[in-house]
Amino acid sequence: MRVVCISAECEPWAKTGGLGDVVDALARAVGARRRADREGDAGTPHVVQSQVWVGTGAIMGVGDGGLADEVEGPVDVFLPKYRGMDAPADATSRSLLVPDPLAESGVTEVTLVEFEARGYRVRLVDHPPAFDRDGYYGDENGDYPDNGWRFGLLCRAALEALMADGRPVDVLHLHDWQAMPAVLLRDCAYEAYPLISRAAVMVTIHNLAYQGWLTRDQAAGLAFPDELKQAMKPRDDGILLLREGIDRAELVNTVSPGYAQEALTPAFGMGLDPALAGIGHRFGGILNGLDMTVWDPATDADLPANYSRSDMTGKVVCRLALLTELGFDPNDTGPVLSMIGRLDPQKGFDLLAGAAPELVAAGARIVVLGTGDPKRIAGMRAIATQHPESVAIVDAFDRALARRIYAGADLYLMPSRFEPCGQGQMIALRYGTPAVVRRTGGLADTVIDVREWPDEGTGFLFDTSSPKSLANACRRAMEHYRRGGEEWAAMQDRGMAIDWSWEAGPAEQYAASYRRAASLRRDS
Ligand code: GLC
Repeated sequence: MRVVCISAECEPWAKTGGLGDVVDALARAVGARRRADREGDAGTPHVVQSQVWVGTGAIMGVGDGGLADEVEGPVDVFLPKYRGMDAPADATSRSLLVPDPLAESGVTEVTLVEFEARGYRVRLVDHPPAFDRDGYYGDENGDYPDNGWRFGLLCRAALEALMADGRPVDVLHLHDWQAMPAVLLRDCAYEAYPLISRAAVMVTIHNLAYQGWLTRDQAAGLAFPDELKQAMKPRDDGILLLREGIDRAELVNTVSPGYAQEALTPAFGMGLDPALAGIGHRFGGILNGLDMTVWDPATDADLPANYSRSDMTGKVVCRLALLTELGFDPNDTGPVLSMIGRLDPQKGFDLLAGAAPELVAAGARIVVLGTGDPKRIAGMRAIATQHPESVAIVDAFDRALARRIYAGADLYLMPSRFEPCGQGQMIALRYGTPAVVRRTGGLADTVIDVREWPDEGTGFLFDTSSPKSLANACRRAMEHYRRGGEEWAAMQDRGMAIDWSWEAGPAEQYAASYRRAASLRRDS
């Protein structure tokens, strides 16, 4: 079974958020599943709890396909070649003519830069007018108005490259709205080409907040007039790319079962809940994995000391070093709360800003590492200026400091308003730092509240999206931390013991979903 991914991001070549990490790890893990590894359990159904197809409420068994249906590695990953992206020396380049509704001649020449790395095949679409720009999606004026053309070109170049390969594609795995033109094109432009038209489409939604709306004018850059006529009704004033993906794909998933359930409700569905509900059991949730080798306190080279479940002394060293680095009193044993991420309303930095005065008064110290619009934490900055000994705000994208914080802090906060999956909470638990999270989406699926489940808890959950609720949960966590002892150590240990690896579950679940998508396509 041949699987091809199309995405706007893939770490380490292009990343602004979790999408990049997930596409990289998934392509690697799915491609690495070798036939030999599977021989023992092929055909043996077993239930995996982290995947739920919500339409029926059923949990899908793995192993419903035979060996002939195994994914062939390496998987192909198509990506734009953005500004500043370098290909390795052994990459090959060739030119490709791509149909382009905005080109006078009807075609545009792009360069396909290809190489194998990290266990999958990277296929970069290089076309400077489309991708050699300041941002991936937009600049200070907002989204680029020609995103329909840009990501349409990415997808069309991918489909043309696949046609030129001459090998049938079984599954096109499309991530987020930027890859949705591919399913529209499959149905409206390539329907006479079986190499493409027979491919099943699996759509993965990483965040419903970004849907890819194109006005009628913008859609003219995406597809030729005849193709648009097939895709749009005369009264439509534009195209919502994610909606097209949901309606046309064989399977649609999001990145946790919890968020999949929420996405069906008006409160979280962002207007797409009826569309998602409409596809029934073809919509579900698969919990993201975490790259356990990339995130490992026992080997992390950015930490001042390494540690593991069997020897936690390194964590104490990391804590002291972090406090010193931040200008906090290293001898103060009081709780250190931390938060890392994009300064996006989704993440709830403003809730922490609201809770901070009370927390500081209660003896907490707080470190925030965030990138994005600094206005979002203006309130927090004022508190940091008043209490430099207790509050530190670092406005930077600093991967190494992020690691030192995951290791050196006592508690990790994720008060997200919604969270499709989230990665910070998994990393924090792996680094022995219990998490305080809002009970939503992937956070509720990955953190267990220690008051509700004293023998299984890995953190502290709260329900209401308010500074007060966050403050209450933090105070509960701080009391627990101050009590310390066996109870605290056991909670840290439970978090560190969790196997989040892609190989342990998600890769298998995606492989099973690919088989199911392919069989749905065959039967259609
Ligand atoms: C988006 C979501 C995040 C998820 C990530 C990877 O960034 O906001 O919750 O973890 O995609 O799927």
